[in-house]
Amino acid sequence: MCGIVGYIGEEQAAPILLDGLSKLEYRGYDSAGVAVYNGEEIQMVKSMGRLKVLNELTHDGAMLPGTVGIGHTRWATHGVPSDANAHPHLNKTGSIVVVHNGIIENYVKLKQQLTRRGYEFRSETDTEVVAHLLDYYYRGNPLEAITRLMHRLEGSYAFGIMFQDHPDEIYAVRKDSPLIVGHADTGSLIASDVPAVLKYTRSVYFIENGEIVRLTREGMQFYNIDEEEISKEPVTIAWDVNAAEKGGYEHFMLKEMYEQPKVVRDTFSPRLKNGDIVIEELGMTDQEIRDIGKLYIVACGSAYHTGMTCKYVFEGLARIPVEVDLASEFRYRNPILDEKTLVIIVSQSGETADSLAALREVKKRGIRVLGIVNVVGSSIAREADNVMYTWAGPEIAVATTKAYSTQLIAQYLLAMKFAKVRGEISQETLEVMLEDLERLPEQMEMLLSNKERIQRFANRYLAAKDVFFIGRGIDYAISMESSLKLKEISYIHSEAYAAGELKHGTISLIEDGTLVAAVLTQEDLFKKTMSNMVEVKTRGACVLAVTVVGNTEVEKNADYVIYIPKTNQYFTNSLAIIPLQLFAYYVSIGKGCDVDKPRNLAKSVTVE
Ligand code: F6R
Repeated sequence: MCGIVGYIGEEQAAPILLDGLSKLEYRGYDSAGVAVYNGEEIQMVKSMGRLKVLNELTHDGAMLPGTVGIGHTRWATHGVPSDANAHPHLNKTGSIVVVHNGIIENYVKLKQQLTRRGYEFRSETDTEVVAHLLDYYYRGNPLEAITRLMHRLEGSYAFGIMFQDHPDEIYAVRKDSPLIVGHADTGSLIASDVPAVLKYTRSVYFIENGEIVRLTREGMQFYNIDEEEISKEPVTIAWDVNAAEKGGYEHFMLKEMYEQPKVVRDTFSPRLKNGDIVIEELGMTDQEIRDIGKLYIVACGSAYHTGMTCKYVFEGLARIPVEVDLASEFRYRNPILDEKTLVIIVSQSGETADSLAALREVKKRGIRVLGIVNVVGSSIAREADNVMYTWAGPEIAVATTKAYSTQLIAQYLLAMKFAKVRGEISQETLEVMLEDLERLPEQMEMLLSNKERIQRFANRYLAAKDVFFIGRGIDYAISMESSLKLKEISYIHSEAYAAGELKHGTISLIEDGTLVAAVLTQEDLFKKTMSNMVEVKTRGACVLAVTVVGNTEVEKNADYVIYIPKTNQYFTNSLAIIPLQLFAYYVSIGKGCDVDKPRNLAKSVTVE
């Protein structure tokens, strides 16, 4: 989704803006632009395509003098990707400039009204109405114009705004789209996300809905929609500056896959104490845990897939009924919730529009919400009743790997905790499970060290048209994530199927040479999935089997086998996903795809 940056300070603004935008590239974009006040007027450069083009056009920013500016990477929603539709957008005289992340839902009506008042539009975007509406309301007081604008807008927005006749200020505003501000030694910054400012400051303010910030070289003031000054507390970000850099790896995705053993350990170890699981941030008494009647796990994409896996874990271990919902469906389906329901929202970014809307829907009904979130201080983290952080650090590659792995761990911990408190597992069982949990990082390392073998196998499938992933139970959930990983970064069509469902239609798609990846990590389902494997094999499929070490029986019916180490049956996803992530990665780079920034995708999906 779109990325916003802004800088006002002692240094030349343009290089800082371009650097900030490069840190937001992972959010996905199709065009980019910057606007800088050069001492006389606002100078703007924007262009379709990658940031490289903008860097070339501005000689890495050198051609744009001035110490105050705003920048943007656009992910098209209204209007095709083009130079004209790229942000920033100007009013008619070029004295007010705006960058925007979000969607103005009533822009058609506003555009008609502005057109009647003589305003001419140069782009097809919803954002341009903002520049003209500000022009309409502006009488020399930026704050007044901005609050009047806010009263007229419907939809979601984070804005960076500059007024030429207030050259020592930038304004930032937010409603339902992420926005942070921070003050560093040499000036003040705005950004859509933390990585863009990490190099300059670790102390940031998360802007809430309806808040306005006035940034100057010396600092910043915060206001509410009634133009009253308010005070805010900064949040200190513990992330290491280098964590958002490639650190010698060819791609962020590879680096992040290699970080999985560490971040998995970082997520469980602070919560293990003397053979017990202590999750203080859960904020629930043992009685409240015993009283849970039903769990909903609500999320999008890969985060949803972790819920699919953990449904089996929560139900199997704690015997609590679980429904797993896509946030985009849940929010509109009027789910049946009561006071015994606990809703868990899982999100890496903490800003996914549908997940956030689902959370708000649940809270409106007075039901308890627990967020499992990676980005500290993000909207879901702030609005949930309680938040359990996954300690994955910044995830830059669009395709999630390390955040996914930590989301699984957070849910395993919860499931074991609930099971123990509800008397479903003994202390002895818990301790055996914790030993398995603590072995996962080392086992993941072992699987990662096998990457060359997987690369050789992946290279045979660069021309594949369709790939199927099959499994039962947790193995079906692993298949869903593996299939998403492959299709999103390699553009090869792929589907995940519950192995038992194949015969009900999908098996007709199997042809000579079609790759079918069968996941068989669940002992009690092994024979069943084996039969399905044989069925596709006899119809010409090439079979890749992923199973637990010792299950050599699969070799009779598979063309290629990947063994994962033995672990508890509920934790197998954490291991089986590693070779399948590597497979997707190597197919993608083998095909020459942009693995970290796949086409059409955005890291943080802040529009519904
Ligand atoms: C896929 C992927 C997405 C995200 C989804 C939810 O690799 O990364 O499917 O999992 O967009 O994002 P968060 O977790 O930020 O809510």
